[in-house]
Amino acid sequence: MHCTRKVTDNIYWVGGNDRRLALFENLFPIPRGVSYNSYLIMDEKTTLMDTVDFSISRQFIENVQYVLAGRTLDYLVINHMEPDHCANIEVLVRLYPEMKLVGNAKTVQMIKQFYEMDLEGKVIEVKEKDELSLGVHTLQFFMAPMVHWPEVMVAYEQSEKILFSADGFGTFGALNGNIFNDEMDFDRDWLDDARRYYTNIVGKYGVQVQALLKKAATLDIEMICPLHGPVWRSDLGYFIDKYDKWSRYEPEDNNVVIIYGSMYGNTENAANVLAMSLADAGVKNIAVYDASVTHVSHLIAEAFRCSVIVVATPTYNGGIYPSMESFLLDMKALGLRNRKVGILDNGTWAPTASKQVKKILEEMKEIEILGEVSIKSTLKPAGLANVEELKDAIMTSLNA
Ligand SMILES: Cc1cc2nc3c(=O)[nH]c(=O)nc-3n(C[C@H](O)[C@H](O)[C@H](O)COP(=O)(O)O)c2cc1C
Ligand SMILES: [Fe+2]
Ligand SMILES: [Fe+2]
Repeated sequence: MHCTRKVTDNIYWVGGNDRRLALFENLFPIPRGVSYNSYLIMDEKTTLMDTVDFSISRQFIENVQYVLAGRTLDYLVINHMEPDHCANIEVLVRLYPEMKLVGNAKTVQMIKQFYEMDLEGKVIEVKEKDELSLGVHTLQFFMAPMVHWPEVMVAYEQSEKILFSADGFGTFGALNGNIFNDEMDFDRDWLDDARRYYTNIVGKYGVQVQALLKKAATLDIEMICPLHGPVWRSDLGYFIDKYDKWSRYEPEDNNVVIIYGSMYGNTENAANVLAMSLADAGVKNIAVYDASVTHVSHLIAEAFRCSVIVVATPTYNGGIYPSMESFLLDMKALGLRNRKVGILDNGTWAPTASKQVKKILEEMKEIEILGEVSIKSTLKPAGLANVEELKDAIMTSLNA
């Protein structure tokens, strides 16, 4: 049975959901599933905006055929060649041999890499600001290189003022019947996943996202149709503002996240002592995570959200405790910058973790170290003054 919704009078959502997949990109836990959005524009030329992941091909093809109602497919616009969107190109080419593939030079190169397909006479190659008339609708293309792949482009539909934004403005989470942002409580149910999606998948490419936002600012956009998650048709400024903050590496919240590793609870205890001391000083909504039980993608999202990050780690075989090291290296790889960091380390015979944490932080940009606390095995009353000192430095930063 087809499973589609109307986006506007002549544009249909023909995508699907995967609520079975445990790990997106075989890396990121998605307990709320994920949607793969695809949009079909019914005009003089029938035009499909991207395809979907292989896992939901059957539903997708049924959706496309239902909306086409016997008509052929004229154009397939390929905004992104990652397999979660491009997996069904070949099957569509077989179903609609006359169909033209619309992409840029890099798209074409990638089609050839992913597929063994004769593209002769099948491709319409587009460049920055090229237009494609579909009848009433006209698509205009804007390149968005490295958001988050080199071939990525977005398409602006001029008559209905819709931006087909590829992975930009996407989020984890299956669409549960409701496909529009105004049909759901985004802030309550989606924002955390949207942040986790952005920071982990697109986070490294803040400069490129800023470039795309600048292009988008020149367009009159009434609706954003991303490849994952809800379609935005109201309150666009809310989500664009989030993207602007995230891509400028500006914290959303002037607040503290404490991320610790601990084998036997002593480093954990020190982290809790610091958290309570901050709470006594008036800080609300403090976030504390055990890096060994929290997937690193959540830690990354929280590090992007907060202005102050406390890193608490035991020394482990002369190095940083593995789950903490993995978090720090991921944060560095994703280019997080402009944060204040407190360091707390622990060691029983040769505590060196703090030094190694600093080495990673020094290789990052605009990281200010607020203070360091070093513990020998357990925090003792004598060591409390050091924790208080770190707390005071954090308070000064929060109140600045
Ligand atoms: C496998 C292992 C390796 C360790 N390596 C070091 C080390 O290289 N240097 C050090 O000072 N302490 C080392 N320690 C000790 C821990 O850093 C120390 O016991 C710390 O107090 C643990 O805190 P926790 O209770 O939060 O796990 C190691 C402990 C374990 C279990
Ligand atoms: Fe992607
Ligand atoms: Fe995607």
